[in-house]
Amino acid sequence: MPSITTLALASIPILLAAVVYQVGVPEAREIVNLLPPFLALRILENVFSEIHCYESVQTLSDELPSANCFSVANGKFTGVFAHTMGPMGKEMPDGHVIPGLWDGHGHLMQYGELLHSADLFGAESMDEVKQRLVDYKTSHPEAGTSAQWLRGVGWDQANFGGRWPLAPDLEIGENFKDQYVMLDRVDVHCVWVSNKVLDLLPSPLPDVPGGEIPARGVFCDNSIDIVAKYYPKPGKESRSKFLKDAMLNLNKLGIVGMHDAGVFPSELELYKELIQDEDWTLRVYAMLECETRNTFCPGDASKFHTADGKLHVQSVKLFADGALGSWGSAMLEPYSDKPESSGSLLVNATALTKLAIDWSAAGFQVNIHAIGDLANKLAIDAFIAAYDLLCPDATHQQCQTRHRFRIEHAQIIHPDQQKQMFEIGIIPSIQPTHATSDMPYAESRLGKTRTAEEAYRMRSLLPLRPILGSDFPVEPASILEGIYAAITRRSPRTGLDAGGGEEGWYPEETLTLKEALRGFTLNPAHGAFLEGKAGVIKQGAYADWVVLDEPLENLEVESLRTATVKETWVGGKRVYKRPEPEDSFNIWKVLPTP
Ligand SMILES: *[C@@H]1O[C@H](CO)[C@@H](O)[C@H](O)[C@H]1NC(C)=O
Ligand SMILES: [Zn+2]
Repeated sequence: MPSITTLALASIPILLAAVVYQVGVPEAREIVNLLPPFLALRILENVFSEIHCYESVQTLSDELPSANCFSVANGKFTGVFAHTMGPMGKEMPDGHVIPGLWDGHGHLMQYGELLHSADLFGAESMDEVKQRLVDYKTSHPEAGTSAQWLRGVGWDQANFGGRWPLAPDLEIGENFKDQYVMLDRVDVHCVWVSNKVLDLLPSPLPDVPGGEIPARGVFCDNSIDIVAKYYPKPGKESRSKFLKDAMLNLNKLGIVGMHDAGVFPSELELYKELIQDEDWTLRVYAMLECETRNTFCPGDASKFHTADGKLHVQSVKLFADGALGSWGSAMLEPYSDKPESSGSLLVNATALTKLAIDWSAAGFQVNIHAIGDLANKLAIDAFIAAYDLLCPDATHQQCQTRHRFRIEHAQIIHPDQQKQMFEIGIIPSIQPTHATSDMPYAESRLGKTRTAEEAYRMRSLLPLRPILGSDFPVEPASILEGIYAAITRRSPRTGLDAGGGEEGWYPEETLTLKEALRGFTLNPAHGAFLEGKAGVIKQGAYADWVVLDEPLENLEVESLRTATVKETWVGGKRVYKRPEPEDSFNIWKVLPTP
């Protein structure tokens, strides 16, 4: 038996190696990897204590694609290990790990607000909408006053036999009369308001460019501003609650970060305040949106990064057009089911180009909402004008690599513009569940050819590293549902395609599971200048991960529609743990309370 002294002396170089390993010297990593695995891990664990082991770890890093353990210090991964703990190790925890998930396009405040509003998603008829509003009012008697309007979201006139709803439709029964009500359409591009709200508005109603009032009580796109001016904004306390509830709900879905696609400067102040809190558990890449849409307001907010990587501000959100559902997207050719219209731009080409130039010259990444093929064309034209000024000595492609301009939605793109995007490398930010939600009517709006050649492309856009997202609260925030939509092109709600079959809607545009996962991890990291830091398990990255019951690739495709995550970790801290099933043995329930 070697003496204690010999052992102690022998362990010094190992401990030193462990120390050097932690600070990231590559040679140290070699040394530790040469040791018997259980010993190496034991040493690291005892010195720095933060070692996590699982049945499997999918890292999405080329260095070590699959692993079993990783070490964490100061909120970052410090090492990833292929080996298991071995016989001396403590029991290996259950579970299969993937990198923390990111939603590449969502709306945090609106999502939180939705959690507190009447849920009208999927309401199949006007009667069902009314019933849900009455139920909501029963559980929220305080809502509906002039100071606190009753809010809801999710209606769709397609479920009202195709007729737009009207203000008087909201005069429902006795205890629902004279309420202040404002309900967002399913795509949040229109609001439907009650008579009480209409009474507040000027008469006659102003004509707003880029806006439409399709029925008495409904306001779309830029016309929403007519109503928004009178909306009593929730106070700071409510808004803080919206954000925190949104954050917790997202963590529950395995989401560790999100790109917030439009944050007003005043809201950004609240974000900054809340994010300082220890208990803030979501990374936010916020796109700045001026209080007045499509303007240049550099004085209202500056670029900003917190040291812990919880908040990043370096991009701006502009809006070229509206949405397809309300014929608001700006098209090169008229709609097939509304030949007198080709939608409308929210801003003209000159103004959009000027904005792209001004914002990018101020150092901001420019992210333009574009749905229709005209809007996508103008977005690309605006980017090109900006490259010419930003990088006079570089190609457009080189300039794009530096500035990473993005098209949010990139839904309907003419083949000529698809070609331009490929040549330049413009990043599309896509929502797979928009494709499956819009598929019932997309072809009638666009016709067969346009749908086949231009619309809701995913596989075709793969070389551009598409960022995937949900646009929550417009769609459910579940990334597993998003992955399902991407790999099947079928609705996560029904499991069916537009024709009610199981083949998928334009199945040639499906992604593989791996590609979809990259779309919710590596690609959003790239689109946010966070490659190597987010969406990956490797040394130096934020220690964010998700624990699943099975390796993702072992899950039945259909079960993605309902699967849940076991745990979510952000910055090395567990921020969500799925409750154990009720019937499982729980010692605390058995022991008498002291
Ligand atoms: C474009 O919009 C800007 C800002 O709204 C306006 O000042 C300008 O006259 C418009 N230009 C054209 C060509 O319509
Ligand atoms: Zn959005």
